[in-house]
Amino acid sequence: MILLVTGGAGFIGSHFIRLVLENRPSYRLINLDKLTYSGNLENLADLAAHEAAKRYFFVEGDICDAGLVRSLFSGEHPLFDRHPELRYREAGSPISAVVHFAAESHVDRSIRDASAFFRTNAEGTRVLVESARIHWGIEPPASKSLYRFLHVSTDEVYGSLEPNDPLFREDSPLRPNSPYAASKAASDLTVLAYVHTYGLPAIVTRCGNNYGPNQHPEKFIPLFITNALEDRPLPLYGDGRQVRDWIYVVDHCRALLLILERGLAGEIYNIGAGEERANREVAELLVLTMNKSTDLIRSVRDRPGHDRRYALDVTRLKSALGWKPELSFAEGVKATVGWYQSHPEWWKRLKDQAFWAYYREVYGSV
Ligand SMILES: NC(=O)c1ccc[n+]([C@@H]2O[C@H](COP(=O)([O-])OP(=O)(O)OC[C@H]3O[C@@H](n4cnc5c(N)ncnc54)[C@H](O)[C@@H]3O)[C@@H](O)[C@H]2O)c1
Repeated sequence: MILLVTGGAGFIGSHFIRLVLENRPSYRLINLDKLTYSGNLENLADLAAHEAAKRYFFVEGDICDAGLVRSLFSGEHPLFDRHPELRYREAGSPISAVVHFAAESHVDRSIRDASAFFRTNAEGTRVLVESARIHWGIEPPASKSLYRFLHVSTDEVYGSLEPNDPLFREDSPLRPNSPYAASKAASDLTVLAYVHTYGLPAIVTRCGNNYGPNQHPEKFIPLFITNALEDRPLPLYGDGRQVRDWIYVVDHCRALLLILERGLAGEIYNIGAGEERANREVAELLVLTMNKSTDLIRSVRDRPGHDRRYALDVTRLKSALGWKPELSFAEGVKATVGWYQSHPEWWKRLKDQAFWAYYREVYGSV
C-alpha cells in the first residue's frame, strides 16, 4: 500500500505520517509538500532515527502543478526509478490512496489576501482528483474500488451556530463565512462532484479545531502558549466568547486512519471531540496551566466576520466506525503546553521578523 500524503510537513499531516509509519508496517508513504511558511520538515525530523524512515519519501512540490501530480500517479516521477521498492504494483497507478491535507489554513491570512487560498485549496484539489480519476482508471460506479481519496476538510464550511442551535451534521447546509472556509467548501464540493460524476472513491472529513505539538505559533493556542512563555500579552479577539469544538491532533489523525481503512466511499464524516470551549475559557486554562497571570490576556479588535460557534454531531463516525477521542481537553492542553515548554528551539525560530510584522498587522500594537 503506497499512500500519497499532501501537506505532510504541516501540523496535522506530520502527525498523521508518524501515526501511519508507527502503526502500519506494510504502508509506504510519499509526502508531497510545497513547504510554504507553515510547512516544516523539522516536524518529522525525529523519524530519521527510526527503521520506519525507510518507508517514507519526501517530494517538494505544489499540488497545483498538474505535471508533477500526474507523474506521481503514473509512476513516472524520478522517485520511482530511485526507489524500485515503490514499484511493486504490476499495473495501474502505484498510488493506492491519497490523504489530502495540503492547504492554506489560516482564516486571518485569508482575510488579508485570499488568492493563495483559492489557488491551493480549490484548484489544487481539482488537480489532485483529476489525476486520481485518470490514473486510477475510474469508471462509474467505482465505489468498491480498492483506491481511496481522503479529503481532509473543516467544520468551518458549515458557517456559524447560535448558542442554542443544534450541532452541525454531515447534511447541514454549507454556509462558509470566511474566504478560507469558502475555499475549503469549494474543495469539498469538487471532491463530491467527482464522486457523483465519475464514481471517484473519495471520502470527505470535516473536523473541528485541532491543537497539539508542532502547530505553527501564529495559530490561537500555540500563539498564547509561546507568548505567555515569553511573558508577552495574549491578544484575545473581541469579547472572547467565540466557541470552538477542540480536538487533540492525534485523536483527529486516529479518526482519519480509521476512515481511510474502513470508511464508506462517497461518505462525509464529521470529526470532533465534543469539547466546546469559548476562546476566553481556553486562554484562562492555558494561563493557569503555565502558572502565569490572567493579566496577560488583552482584548483586541475582533476579527472581521468572526464566526460565533462551531460544534459537530459525530454520531456517524462513532456509531459506524466505533471511534472515540482518547484525550480530554484538559489532558491535551497539558500535553501541548509541556511540548512547547520543552521545544523552544522549534517555535522560537518561527517567531522571526516576518512573523512579528504579520502579528502587528493583525493585532495592532498589543
Ligand atoms: N488546523 C485545524 O484546526 C484544522 C481543522 C480542520 C481541518 N483542517 C484541515 O487540515 C489540513 C491541514 O491543516 P494544518 O493545520 O495541518 O495546516 P498547516 O498550515 O499546518 O499545513 C499545511 C501544509 O500544506 C502545505 N502546502 C500548502 N500549500 C501547498 C501546495 N500548494 N502544494 C503542496 N503543499 C502545500 C504547507 O507547506 C504545509 O506543510 C488543511 O486542509 C486544513 O484545512 C485543519
